[in-house]
Amino acid sequence: MMGSVSFRTIIEPFRIHSVEPVRMTSQEDRERMIRDVGFNVFGLRSDDVLFDLLTDSGTGAMSRDQWAGIQRGDESYAGSPSWYRFLESVQELFPFKHVIPTHQGRAAEKILFTVIGGPGKVVPNNTHFDTTRANVEATGAEALDLVIAEGLDPAALHPFKGNMDVERLEAFLQERSGDVPAVMMTVTNNSGGGQPVSLANLRATREVCDRFGVPLFLDACRFAENAWFIREREEGQQGREVADIVREMASLTDGMTMSAKKDGLANIGGWLAMNDDDLAEQCRTLLIRTEGFPTYGGLAGRDLEAVAQGLREVVDHDYLQYRIRSTAYLGEGLVNAGMPVVQPIGGHAVYIDARGLLPHIAPLQYPGQSLVVSLYETGGIRACEIGTVMFGRQPDGSERPAALDLVRLAIPRRTYTQSHIDYVIEVCERVSSKSAELGGYRIVDEPPSLRHFTAKFAPA
Ligand code: F0G
Repeated sequence: MMGSVSFRTIIEPFRIHSVEPVRMTSQEDRERMIRDVGFNVFGLRSDDVLFDLLTDSGTGAMSRDQWAGIQRGDESYAGSPSWYRFLESVQELFPFKHVIPTHQGRAAEKILFTVIGGPGKVVPNNTHFDTTRANVEATGAEALDLVIAEGLDPAALHPFKGNMDVERLEAFLQERSGDVPAVMMTVTNNSGGGQPVSLANLRATREVCDRFGVPLFLDACRFAENAWFIREREEGQQGREVADIVREMASLTDGMTMSAKKDGLANIGGWLAMNDDDLAEQCRTLLIRTEGFPTYGGLAGRDLEAVAQGLREVVDHDYLQYRIRSTAYLGEGLVNAGMPVVQPIGGHAVYIDARGLLPHIAPLQYPGQSLVVSLYETGGIRACEIGTVMFGRQPDGSERPAALDLVRLAIPRRTYTQSHIDYVIEVCERVSSKSAELGGYRIVDEPPSLRHFTAKFAPA
């Protein structure tokens, strides 16, 4: 294992077997192309992007053995061997009684909350991801975020900044437990910077849920990254097998939603799992109506194979050490380049504090958008604004600054090498050195909701 080798450089624990070209473009080309799409990077053709750090979801490279699994995929409508391999692989890590395959994470969320949500209900979470919140709210229920205070402060150092504020959860359940169909725990906490949750916090949350008779569900998208942080940072967990930590995380909960596009190491896929027979029956009925028969969900047999194999690879210690170390490497490089970033560095992404970097741009002139445009124009990097563009428009039509103006550089799994990341750091150095010259933006056209995907901008 790599951990026993004492070299400074953390290498990519793989060789490259099949390559994809990336297209070089000039700064002049990029300035024209971004202007043509109204300064919104979601409007670009991905061929015109050199390094695509928009998301870590479904954008990673698959292994030789996953591609071999794709070839073996059995497309039988019912009871395919590919389904049984998927089921066995999921239950090896998450031994829930019922596993319900879906085409991706949000489909699992939609099914779960359609069954357990509804007007008057409240679902607490450390922090809901956007689609989770949207699926809770679509049923008329309320989505409540209860992350610890440190989780909301970009500079606060805490080893488990994704933890649930158990005291606030307890106080809330004291008042409203009858309206809470489930408590969720998102690992790692994506919206809070990819920050982990400790086993101790999961245990404490479980204990409170038990006292009020409320089930606890994991939003497990980045479970392996979370387990690696537990192994590295939590007292008494060093030296433990990650797969074993994952099983303990599962044992503290009653079910899970999952996007296999993250720690499933696949390009598509997901599932919903639980122990409760009645709930499973209701969810399966909805699955058949909206996704597919319960032995394939919304997936092809070959997709089930890719996930089954990905789950075996994602708990490998060499892989996880490389994954977490390489994200931290980017974060440290950005700090040296003069970029303020959310600390500590999370598992799947580095979050730049754009408001901190560009204090001369008012939040309503979108400092995050300005940084995103400059990263593309300067070096062909596509990042994602997570700030006032994404969250500023209020349901009553007014606009106000988001709590933070962040820019996320999400790292696809096993896709970019260290020299690619060195280039990203160099581009950031250049952007940082000319930050005083960057200007704000105004929105010239926006849809009624989820405006960040399609809004058009112009320099302010
Ligand atoms: N939960 C979390 C914590 C997520 O990060 C995501 C997706 C989902 C649920 C939904 O899963 O995409 O398979 O439907 N996050 C991606 C991102 C899109 O870029 O962070 P999905």
